Amino acid sequence: MSAFSAAVLFSCGEGNKTAGEGGDKKEVVVADSNPSDYDPQRGIGKWDETNVDVSSFDPALAAEGKKIADTKCTSCHKMTDERLVGPGWKGVTERHKPYWIMNFITEPDPMIDVDPKLQEQLELCLVRMPNQNLTDQDARAIVEFMRENDGAK
Ligand code: HEC
Repeated sequence: MSAFSAAVLFSCGEGNKTAGEGGDKKEVVVADSNPSDYDPQRGIGKWDETNVDVSSFDPALAAEGKKIADTKCTSCHKMTDERLVGPGWKGVTERHKPYWIMNFITEPDPMIDVDPKLQEQLELCLVRMPNQNLTDQDARAIVEFMRENDGAK
């Protein structure tokens, strides 16, 4: 996986082609990331529609999420639709399912390697979103804060 990550990182500006040196290397890369199995609605991780419940809004949880985001995320993300280092968070809960967001923010790397939308963002030659070591609870709280930012009440 790390070889593939490096290939993506250094191919910034050339689309998502991995600049493999030989046919063998390329085959390993494809097998490693399994892009054909990738579900862009869900991402990669343990969350899906069965274990993330967003049927009601929890203001206390959103407040907790804001606190975490203020220390770990807002150096790169604005609450508007304006890009800072990463994309602005306005509308992010409409662009992605809550379980996609939780899968991504708890472990960004495997998804950046294969997700078409993340690949597009990466191609703007900024940086790879770093792993911020979020707990499950942190991730869920941040999703609630994002929902609030997108108008959940
Ligand atoms: C060092 C800068 C940086 C930090 C810190 C950071 N991100 Fe990101 N984030 C990015 C970049 C860059 C992208 C675009 C994807 C890529 O290139 O990796 C991104 C993409 C995202 C996306 C997808 C947005 C979309 O519209 O598709 C979400 C959601 C996200 N980040 C959440 C978070 C959360 C939550 C935190 C804090 C726990 C965080 N980010 C911290 C840089 C950062």
